[in-house]
Amino acid sequence: VWVTDSWASWVAGTLDGIRDAGRWRAPRELDARGPQGRLADWPVISFASNDYLGLTAHPALSAAAHEALDRWGAGSGSARLVTGARPVHTDLEAALARWKGTDRAVLFPTGFAANLGALSTIGRPGVTLLSDELNHASLIDGCRLARASGAAAEVVAHADVDAFAAAARRACSDGQRVAIVTDVAFSMDGDVAPLSDLAKVAAEHGALLVLDEAHAVPGLHTSTELPADAAAAIAAAGGAVLRVGTLSKTLGSLGGFVATDHAFADLLVNAARSYIFTTASTPADSAAALAALRLLGSDAGSELVATLRRHLDRLMPGHPSPIVPVVLGDEERAVAASAALLERGLLVPAIRPPTVPVGSSRLRVTLSAAHTDAQVDQLLEGLAAIGWRP
Ligand SMILES: Cc1ncc(COP(=O)(O)O)c(C=O)c1O
Repeated sequence: VWVTDSWASWVAGTLDGIRDAGRWRAPRELDARGPQGRLADWPVISFASNDYLGLTAHPALSAAAHEALDRWGAGSGSARLVTGARPVHTDLEAALARWKGTDRAVLFPTGFAANLGALSTIGRPGVTLLSDELNHASLIDGCRLARASGAAAEVVAHADVDAFAAAARRACSDGQRVAIVTDVAFSMDGDVAPLSDLAKVAAEHGALLVLDEAHAVPGLHTSTELPADAAAAIAAAGGAVLRVGTLSKTLGSLGGFVATDHAFADLLVNAARSYIFTTASTPADSAAALAALRLLGSDAGSELVATLRRHLDRLMPGHPSPIVPVVLGDEERAVAASAALLERGLLVPAIRPPTVPVGSSRLRVTLSAAHTDAQVDQLLEGLAAIGWRP
């Protein structure tokens, strides 16, 4: 006998631990197209999605996806480098690069895979990654992979430019190559990284700036945009910029990408394991994202951003992202508030430790251009009923 206990009892014990900690979770089915739907037969308006511009249910995306399905079928059949590459992937990458103002973009199956691919690729001995303490799980796991390949990775205090500068200085004086890794808009707080200051730190240290732009909605707030001359200044100092994004939020589809220069793009294609050893995105998902980009470049796209801005200003004037945290403190309070809102037909999730620090449990409200003014009225009434006002 090699083990003292069976796997079955280990699993049961681990699950008991999760249950005892009050952290048990299971998916709840939301039968919906857009914000309005039914949650286990209870009619709800969702303020929980990352579909910021309401594009998941936009007819232009559905039509493009249908056309791609008819032309290329449901799946791509293999990895991009084998036989999975379709013209729609190439077109999408070109459109993403134009959107981000970079030479190239490399498509991954998800944003999570894009972060793993980018950070594991740069993770080599002689590299130090400096990662904001509130970064998304995919950046954290990317740093772990980088560390496993011989890089050093340090967690830096949230949005603390001086701490990033000091850590970069230390690493450089030890002869290390530096990468500064940060979310642009943070997924649980909805605040924004000090982008222009971090870009200066990157330029001063010839660093690589890795930006996860998953929750940044272009045009919503200037603070989520890298200053126009920043990338050139970083490149002139021997650094570079990787802009990681997802197709699953603002673009209403599924997939991830890294937008960057030609050389880095070639490196990702040849070294990022989450690009090489995975099946290419479905043609339908890619076609939908391409349709979303076309829409964003039109007046209709600007109108969607303006609608989102208007909704957001009713909750938190001038807030830079569509994520509005309503911090309530202890876990029970957040769970009770979420339940009270659900009673009123408002789906607003409670976010608790370990996702956020102990004592900062909250409601995470996300707004979408797909919400109507009347739905935002209802949300404001619900929040007022639990004691929160703008
Ligand atoms: C900041 C951030 N980066 C990356 C991701 C992963 O993107 P995807 O859902 O496309 O895997 C998410 C969330 O899903 C996120 O919030």
